[in-house]
Amino acid sequence: MEIELELNGVERTVEASKSDSLLDVLRRNGYTGAKRGCDTGACGFCTVRVDGEPVKSCVKPVTTVQGAAVETIEGLGTQDDLHPVQQAFVDNTALQCGFCIPGMIMRSTALLEENPAPTEQEVREALSDNLCRCTGYKKIVAAVLDAAEQMDDGTAVATDGGPTLNSDSGTTAEIECLRTDCGCMEGDQ
Ligand code: FES
Ligand code: FES
Repeated sequence: MEIELELNGVERTVEASKSDSLLDVLRRNGYTGAKRGCDTGACGFCTVRVDGEPVKSCVKPVTTVQGAAVETIEGLGTQDDLHPVQQAFVDNTALQCGFCIPGMIMRSTALLEENPAPTEQEVREALSDNLCRCTGYKKIVAAVLDAAEQMDDGTAVATDGGPTLNSDSGTTAEIECLRTDCGCMEGDQ
């Protein structure tokens, strides 16, 4: 049978058999970022997002994603331009063997979209379905909290790309031009 879906923002048609899981089909088509751990829905290594929700793809029948939007780790960032959550995992050395990390990151992106400023407890609860055999979770939780902070900083800009607004007064924050010859700051005093 054929399954039509949006895969990382691109309309795709993939071949599948009725008994395939979403993970089977993803990995057969080269999307090997989602890992096969337990294959029974217990470890979370295979987590991807379906219509924005984190889903364990090993127990998700592929027939149920007909017409859905599926996001995998391959659609997040690139080697040269990591997604802030990926960057935070690197910055916090929140990985060892790395096998659980794609699933952890996909679940973390879903959490931060729903709750951009989670508490440590909320991060721990959100990630409680995803197991890690190596790290002890401490650095993973630190990475997600760090990502939340970085993403918050990154979105605190005017929608026209202008300078950051001072959230207390609603006025434009003071900026300085580093050039001395353009005169762009004249009249700002
Ligand atoms: S491989 Fe899917 S939950 Fe373990
Ligand atoms: S880093 Fe090895 S299982 Fe998580």
